[in-house]
Amino acid sequence: MTLPPELSPAYTPIKIGPLLLRNRFIKSATNEGMAKGGLPSKLLVEHHRSMAAGGAAMTTVAYCAVSPDGRTFPDQVLLDEPSLPHLRKLTEAVHRENAAVCAQITHGGAFTFLPKLSTRYPMSSSGGFNPPGSLSGRLFKKAMTQADLDRVAGEFVAGARRAREAGFDAVEIHMGHGYLLSQFISPLYNRRRDAFGGKTAAERVRYPAQVLRRVLDAVGRDTAVTCKICVTEGVKGGAEAEDAVQVAQALEREGAHLLTLSGGMNVESPWTIFGSNMPDNVIETDQSAIVKLATRMMKLWEPKLTFHEMYFLEHSRRVRAAVKLPLAYLGGAKSVSGVAQAMQDGFDCVAMGRALIHDPQLVNKFRDGSVTVSGCTACNQCVSMMYTPGGTACVLRGPNDAALNHTPAAS
Ligand SMILES: Cc1cc2nc3c(=O)[nH]c(=O)nc-3n(C[C@H](O)[C@H](O)[C@H](O)COP(=O)(O)O)c2cc1C
Ligand code: SF4
Repeated sequence: MTLPPELSPAYTPIKIGPLLLRNRFIKSATNEGMAKGGLPSKLLVEHHRSMAAGGAAMTTVAYCAVSPDGRTFPDQVLLDEPSLPHLRKLTEAVHRENAAVCAQITHGGAFTFLPKLSTRYPMSSSGGFNPPGSLSGRLFKKAMTQADLDRVAGEFVAGARRAREAGFDAVEIHMGHGYLLSQFISPLYNRRRDAFGGKTAAERVRYPAQVLRRVLDAVGRDTAVTCKICVTEGVKGGAEAEDAVQVAQALEREGAHLLTLSGGMNVESPWTIFGSNMPDNVIETDQSAIVKLATRMMKLWEPKLTFHEMYFLEHSRRVRAAVKLPLAYLGGAKSVSGVAQAMQDGFDCVAMGRALIHDPQLVNKFRDGSVTVSGCTACNQCVSMMYTPGGTACVLRGPNDAALNHTPAAS
């Protein structure tokens, strides 16, 4: 079957910095729950291999922490020496399918549930009461000093170098969803009075932009360096589309190779990320105690959302109009018409999370015409699967092989 003309741009190659992608589909980072104790499992390799085999041009390994304190949970990929042989298995498997692979590099800052940290309080842009602490018990956070800022920027650089050493083609610096770098961008978190704070997003993005600069200098010549940002934090007093415009402009000036446009915050507005709430029956099943408690509490403050496709389109268009660098649209892309719309609106790539968890073959199926709308119902039950023994999976397809998830990739 020939490709419908409105879809054909999505199947053309694109250059992202030094990287050539075979088409415009990117598997977005979705915490896989496939790194017990921080070590990537054989299931993590298979998960990303299947995304590549299913047609995505690039698949993103979620949530790779740049330092032990930068983790939010203990079962999160840590970009340290012991992880390298396991990550290499993963990047080799993706490359054998002729796709590229990106490591999302992140630091949780004050959003951490780790039982132990090297500092008494978790770090953030500013000190004082810690909103995520209402879930984790860490009620206070400390403002980063200049030495902290330098050290953590160095950790991002070291993480990016390790990712490159492990064979990744790209790194995505996480600047959204309430993690450390977005704690600088967000007016809810950043109350600094020095050069890294201010009333405008253009001022508050200075530290994240410095981190980007250092990562670009270290690996940007041969590795694509992208950033994930919020087009709206989805919460009163939080960053909005106008802030996102300023953030995008600053990151463009700094030389980012691509921005992935997302929205929402893990604690204050988690379901904004997904464009739909987690249903009550899901909250009560399958979850680890901490996720159950967190989701119950979040219900108290997040309004009811009704899912609709391409739910960040209006906000993302504002950013599209303000910058020239490549942008990946993300949020509720699940149909041929949604992808065509994103292309028509001038987005360079389309990133997808749940639609590809539901069916890793979707990109090939859109292309051959056998599927035009993903069967993903946006029920968010895959989120509740993250910390089950088999890790993140679509409930319509059943749990993954837990044994494979308990076997380190390189064993
Ligand atoms: C199970 C699950 C885990 C996720 N974990 C992450 C993550 O680790 N990092 C991240 O930036 N986004 C994460 N996300 C958010 C997705 O990248 C994406 O922003 C969101 O699912 C909306 O896109 P979609 O409508 O295509 O699913 C996660 C999403 C899901 C469903
Ligand atoms: S569990 Fe399956 S159907 Fe539900 S949101 Fe996740 S991928 Fe979609």
